[in-house]
Formats: sequence, C-alpha cells, structure tokens
Amino acid sequence: MFEFYLDTTDLQQLARFNKSIPLKGITTNPSILAKSGVGLKDTLINCSKILGPETRFHVQTVSKTTQEIINEAEELNALPYDIVVKVPTTEIGLAAIKELKNKRITVLATAIYSVQQGFLAALCGADYLAPYVNRIDAMGVSGINVVGDIQLLLKQHDLTSKLLPASFKNTQQVMDTLKLGVEAITLPIDIADQLISHPAVQPAVKQFENDWETTFGDKLSFES
Ligand code: G3P
Repeated sequence: MFEFYLDTTDLQQLARFNKSIPLKGITTNPSILAKSGVGLKDTLINCSKILGPETRFHVQTVSKTTQEIINEAEELNALPYDIVVKVPTTEIGLAAIKELKNKRITVLATAIYSVQQGFLAALCGADYLAPYVNRIDAMGVSGINVVGDIQLLLKQHDLTSKLLPASFKNTQQVMDTLKLGVEAITLPIDIADQLISHPAVQPAVKQFENDWETTFGDKLSFES
C-alpha cells in the first residue's frame, strides 16, 4: 500500500492534514527538528498524540562515524515507536546501513542526489531510498530521471528497497514522481496544501451553492 508522509513536525498542520490525507507518518531531519526547536523525544510524544500509535517516524542520525551511527540507530530502534532510521548516503553511512541490516534495523538511505548513491544504498540493504527531487533539479539534473533510473535498477537487480522521494517545490514534480509508481513519498506542508486546494475548486463549489439556493433556498438535497 502506498505510504504518504509529511516532511514536518508542525503539530497544527499534522492535525489538519491527518483529517483529509491517509498519512502513514512523518519524515524528519536535523534541520526540521532544529527549526522547530523541539527535541526528538517530545516530537515523538506530541506527533503520536495527533497521528496515533501506528504512526511511522523516519528519524535521521546525527553521528559522524560508522560505529556512532550504528550505536545511535540502535538507540532509536529501541524507542517504543515505529521508527525508521534515516542514514545519510555517504561512505560511512553506507557502511552503517550494511551493518544495520545485519541487525535487522529498518533503514532509510537519505540525501540521495545520484543514481549511483541510490543503487549502492539498495545493494547495502536499505529499506527505503530518499532521492531529493528538487535539490537535484536545482543542480541542473532531472530529479525525476534520477528517481526513474534508480527504480529501473531496483527492478533489474531484484532489489526490494522502496523509493520514498523527498524535496519538492511544486506539484508538477510530485505528479511526475508519482507517475513513476514509487511506493512512498514525503511532502512539505506548502506542497501538500497545493495538492488538495486547486484554485478552480472553490469557485465551482460556490456556483453549485448559488444555483441550489436560488431554486431550493436552504433545503438540503434530500428535503427537495
Ligand atoms: O528530508 C529531506 C528533505 O526534507 C529535503 O527537502 O525541501 O529541504 O530540499 P528540502
């Protein structure tokens, strides 16, 4: 089943979107947590209260060596939440991912800017791969093509990693990514907002209301 995440810890927005979008959980990174000013423990408590106990949290390690990443991942994995440990796809990160898979810890390889990074992370056993679509676009390379090429390699080599693309700045990028058939996605709030609020919808609804009230006043449909 498709997994829909929001790339935020904004509680008000999570409460809002949880009503209209079937959310699997949230993705975070050190920048998102630092910007919120709320540490991981309180973030997990607060977000769980809103999204429920089944929520999946993608939480990034901040350690700087392979062994420290492994230790940090084990601590995260021991927390009483459904946590996927995000590891940056660097050389030391790939080494950590390999070890973490031996320990059966669920891992997302993050900060993927190239096809080769995605392929290597998948070979190391990452459960999820997060290519950064807009950041790749901003470097003059097609983020969608990077996602598509990783997907092709996963298929060709029978690799089971799920693509969970991140970093979007417009809905076209989102739709082009979804059309590839990725199994998961994470969106920032402003893009989720644009996805569910097409500017033509409210005028159309208003027109229906006006036409109805002109003929039937304040009656409801079944009363007419
Ligand atoms: O977690 C990575 C993702 O949040 C990157 O998004 O918008 O900072 O490029 P952005």
